Amino acid sequence: MSRKTVLAFDILLLCLLTILCRSSSLHHHHHRRHRHHHRHETRTYTAFQPTKLFVFGDSYADTGNTLKESSTAWKVPYGETFPGKPSGRFSDGRVLSDFVANYFGLISPIPYNFWKDGESYLKYGMNFAVGGTGVFETLVPLPNMTVQIDMFIQLIDEGVYSKTDLQSSVALVTLSGNDYNAYLHRNGSVEGLPALITEAVAQLTVNIERIHNLGMKKVAVAGLQPLGCLPLMTYPDAFQRCNHTINDLVVFHNQLLSATVATLNAVAKDSSTFVLVDLYDSFLSVINGTGSTAFANPLQPCCIGIDASHSCGDIDSTGAKLYELCADQAAMFFWDLFHPTQQGWKAVYNLLESTLQKL
Ligand SMILES: *[C@@H]1O[C@H](CO)[C@@H](O)[C@H](O)[C@H]1NC(C)=O
Ligand SMILES: *[C@@H]1O[C@H](CO)[C@@H](O)[C@H](O)[C@H]1NC(C)=O
Ligand SMILES: *[C@@H]1O[C@H](CO)[C@@H](O)[C@H](O)[C@H]1NC(C)=O
Ligand SMILES: *[C@@H]1O[C@H](CO)[C@@H](O)[C@H](O)[C@H]1NC(C)=O
Repeated sequence: MSRKTVLAFDILLLCLLTILCRSSSLHHHHHRRHRHHHRHETRTYTAFQPTKLFVFGDSYADTGNTLKESSTAWKVPYGETFPGKPSGRFSDGRVLSDFVANYFGLISPIPYNFWKDGESYLKYGMNFAVGGTGVFETLVPLPNMTVQIDMFIQLIDEGVYSKTDLQSSVALVTLSGNDYNAYLHRNGSVEGLPALITEAVAQLTVNIERIHNLGMKKVAVAGLQPLGCLPLMTYPDAFQRCNHTINDLVVFHNQLLSATVATLNAVAKDSSTFVLVDLYDSFLSVINGTGSTAFANPLQPCCIGIDASHSCGDIDSTGAKLYELCADQAAMFFWDLFHPTQQGWKAVYNLLESTLQKL
């Protein structure tokens, strides 16, 4: 891994970090009707209709749990499409967890950091995901997935959620590569990655089993997206092509995860208790133009620092921008070096609906 790439990883990791809009609630109800209508037509109603969504993981699912003082997700122009100002989401708008909540007809669950200010939202579940984190220690001193689950257990112990609640709930778990970024940052070798991947998937397995053993009815776990296609990997090549060396390692991660999901389902004696949400194929399909939405320059990010030492959202002491922003974020798949735009997530989500129907 080149030094430049590792630098880019740093930028991503610096990218660490409510606004529960009433307009969002209208949006969701609208979509719920739409979804049921659609499902009725295609006769794909599933028996399970969760009442709550609980979210664990990183920036692909975080809706506001990073610290305002230190996170790019709380800086302009993050959030400019939705909710119209920075909200702690690592995108110009909605992220994966918002789309999944919407699919289930739920309001996107309140971030853990804000739950005491929004008790009326507790009925939709809660989002514990924190940008920059992983299953192990990363470069941010923020709650890893184990600690996120501990926080959830504490709320159960305090009676905020009950066993009965969990029996009608679904969990979404994302793990988007921060463990691997941190390892490379610490000068770990590419040759050593397969061993770390094996350990990380083993820890992820422990985590999702733990969530299920609390009584959670269903667990949707995200596969790893093609890291070799992220702008932070492709910028030395002017965002022209994905790095296949990296993507082959991602495939290894996903094969292990897929085997784990099959094993856990065999133990649970139910093939749909754990469902793998395939971000690898869905990202690649959108990137290679076989999805429903084609992006003209799919590997090019919308928002990027003016040089390798700056990131989207950076400003100087006079307030002048140290980043460049594209003219139309809805025309771009990637928002920054690591994260899709809202439009990008929407295109990916469209390809995931059939997977979610398995839950
Ligand atoms: C892909 O990434 C690896 C690891 O960072 C690097 O060694 C290799 O040169 C990259 N390949 C291309 C084609 O950029
Ligand atoms: C998660 O973080 C806690 C607190 O920093 C730490 O004690 C624990 O070892 C971490 N878990 C893993 C699996 O690395
Ligand atoms: C990684 O290697 C670079 C270049 O050799 C060095 O400057 C840096 O201190 C090393 N980082 C760590 C965490 O060891
Ligand atoms: C596009 O991506 C999908 C999903 O990975 C793959 O099945 C398909 O072969 C790809 N098509 C092209 C033209 O690369």
